Amino acid sequence: MIFLPINIPSGNSFVFCIPCKKEVIIFGYEKYRLMQIGNVTVEKGVLLAPMEDVSDLPFRVMCRRLGADIVYTEFISSEGLIRDAKRSLQKLQLADEEHPVAIQIFGGDTPTMVEAAKIAEQSEPDFIDINFGCWVKNVVARNAGAALLKDPPLMASMTRALVDAVKLPVTVKTRLGWDSNSIVILDVAKMLEDAGAAALTVHCRTRDMGHNGSADWSWIPKIKQVVNIPVILNGDVTSALDVGRAFAETGADAVMIGRAAIANPFIFRQAQTYLRTGVEEEPPTVEERIDLCLTQLKMNIAYSGNEKRTCTEFRKFYAGYLKGLYMASSVRRDLVQTSSYAEVETRLWQYAEDLKSGRLHPADNYDTHNAEPEQVAIV
Ligand SMILES: Cc1cc2nc3c(=O)[nH]c(=O)nc-3n(C[C@H](O)[C@H](O)[C@H](O)COP(=O)(O)O)c2cc1C
Repeated sequence: MIFLPINIPSGNSFVFCIPCKKEVIIFGYEKYRLMQIGNVTVEKGVLLAPMEDVSDLPFRVMCRRLGADIVYTEFISSEGLIRDAKRSLQKLQLADEEHPVAIQIFGGDTPTMVEAAKIAEQSEPDFIDINFGCWVKNVVARNAGAALLKDPPLMASMTRALVDAVKLPVTVKTRLGWDSNSIVILDVAKMLEDAGAAALTVHCRTRDMGHNGSADWSWIPKIKQVVNIPVILNGDVTSALDVGRAFAETGADAVMIGRAAIANPFIFRQAQTYLRTGVEEEPPTVEERIDLCLTQLKMNIAYSGNEKRTCTEFRKFYAGYLKGLYMASSVRRDLVQTSSYAEVETRLWQYAEDLKSGRLHPADNYDTHNAEPEQVAIV
């Protein structure tokens, strides 16, 4: 019997059986899903989302090491870049190790965005991403981010201007629409493709949802029907199983992960294992978590050059590294008061030691609840 694989848009597992002239479902077979953006080609890519104050250079490097196929910088203000603002320029710094990497910029004024894209291009990212999805008031008030969802022709003309101005591919990240009464993504997707966008990431919520409610992945196959450029699914992907489900259910070309990577940076490794083998990895050991946490902290200190400030800013990551561990909240409470790497290191290894030896006991006045993620600013 000869089985001939057929490529079908949904990416389901079908082959064509020549003698029977029938399509047959073969479990475990999936069509290759190669996504190409400029010189970057990834198969079933799992991407790190742009996240302000999170997706900095050390975090991106770490997520790449853990298996993220492409990483994005946090969004960078186009106005800041052309003003030579120190903080914006610092965000352009990329490490060799993190490629493929995209620099994301935002702004409401096309000439400023064009200039900013040219500046960003000098850092030699693999592509430039435009943020048309940020929902926060001070961005929207400047007619940037998701504000452009109210003006799709401007979105398209701005995209075209950037595509014409830089040699690198230009991609776009946006939402479904402004609100549930104005879901414009199908028109917008087509307009952006016509404007030369090399790929489109869709956070499957509307602007007025912010981060509330559920991301509606059912839009992804509809978008895939109207455009030929890669469509990247984003929103509420929280586990390796979700990644598998997102590919299987939607035919997305890649999946982008945001908050779940803060809570569990191992998600990239777990997703890669699951996608390649269909097997779920065991959760990381306490030692692995502590090792990675300390590596990230060390990289952050080296990057910022300010140990004390970095230890303070690093608080948002402790909840993720300790999530679900016995009496983790007590450790977190101690860690948020630390101001040096040495203190963090000592406290974490002491905790690991206590766990191993069984010394931790509820009677020690520890809070027995599992750690909950810290509140981080949500853009
Ligand atoms: C702390 C934080 C910062 C964010 N900053 C950005 C940003 O700079 N640019 C952007 O396009 N989206 C930003 N987002 C949105 C994420 O990229 C992503 O679209 C959103 O979190 C939904 O994906 P998730 O459910 O996987 O988190 C941010 C989200 C969070 C939580």
